[in-house]
Amino acid sequence: MALFHRAIVRMLPAVPKRVVRRFASRYIAGPELADAVRVVSEANARGRLATIDVLGEESATAAEATEMANEYLEVLAAIEREGLDAYASAKPTAFGLRVGYDLCREQIERVVRRAAEQDTFVRIEMEDATTTDDTLALYRELRGAGRENIGAVLQASLRRTHGDVEALADLRPNIRLVKGIYIESPEIQLKDDEAVRTCFVEVLDALLAAGSFVAIATHDDRLVDRSLARIAARKVGRDRYEFQLLLGVKPEIGDRLAAAGHRVRLYVPYGSRWYEYSLRRLQENPQLAGYVAGDTFRRLAPGHSARSA
Ligand code: FDA
Repeated sequence: MALFHRAIVRMLPAVPKRVVRRFASRYIAGPELADAVRVVSEANARGRLATIDVLGEESATAAEATEMANEYLEVLAAIEREGLDAYASAKPTAFGLRVGYDLCREQIERVVRRAAEQDTFVRIEMEDATTTDDTLALYRELRGAGRENIGAVLQASLRRTHGDVEALADLRPNIRLVKGIYIESPEIQLKDDEAVRTCFVEVLDALLAAGSFVAIATHDDRLVDRSLARIAARKVGRDRYEFQLLLGVKPEIGDRLAAAGHRVRLYVPYGSRWYEYSLRRLQENPQLAGYVAGDTFRRLAPGHSARSA
């Protein structure tokens, strides 16, 4: 089954976009900011916090990067106008990191400055390993410039992460801790699931010891339980950590944690550039093979019309 799943994952880019879209709709609020506002309002009503992500990565020009920052200003305006309990999450390459570091810094700073005016927070996400140094440098520079309303992301699967925690310790950074979605070479990335879990818990422990706020972002039940055990052992206050989950992925974890009184934040992406994000989510979904096989069967079945494909 694992082999079959891997084969399906490899052929996913060949699956028609409309099919991918249908399978992936649970992971995305919708194409418009109004969709994100609706989903976040519903989440807030159920006691969940949220973070809003505008879909799209790798801006190729300064104009695209500026447009993306403008969209984030709209997100912040909506958060304030609608009184949402939410902040923004943003990818450096969407703000133009591939075009130039200074451009990216300028665009992120526009957003962070506006967020500070309304007492909102911005999480700078972590992308593939070619961006790690610049992203952490950006974080340090913005903090050095007095921006306190920003956080970073660290990836437990990267071998460098222990060192990054040490290097950032003087800032007492607000960190979202994840396993890491990007596939890197074995020289720089742990490949064994259990080794990644061990590193995740060690990094969590080091961050808590350094006084950081940690957003524990995982759908891995074992990791959730091990994190809870570390938090209990350290007697960490509930204002020093939270759990984060992606929209549409294992919501029962959020229910369990919220029922036990832990803060739970939902990651809510929206936008018209949904395809890459959807592929990543589907590739992680253990039911993917079943979905694709079922859809293919339906399309091949007698009586199927092209319109319903
Ligand atoms: P794992 O992949 O082992 O999944 C645990 C369980 O959840 C498994 O049973 C799995 O099948 C199930 N599951 C996972 N995804 C599913 C899906 N799509 N549908 C159904 N079931 C699914 N990464 C990064 O590199 N940079 C970043 O900035 C972020 N940001 C981020 C924010 C938030 C809020 C979260 C939750 C995650 C990220 N990530 C990320 C992604 C992260 O690095 C990681 O790839 C995913 O969270 C999957 O890893 P898990 O820890 O959930 O474990």
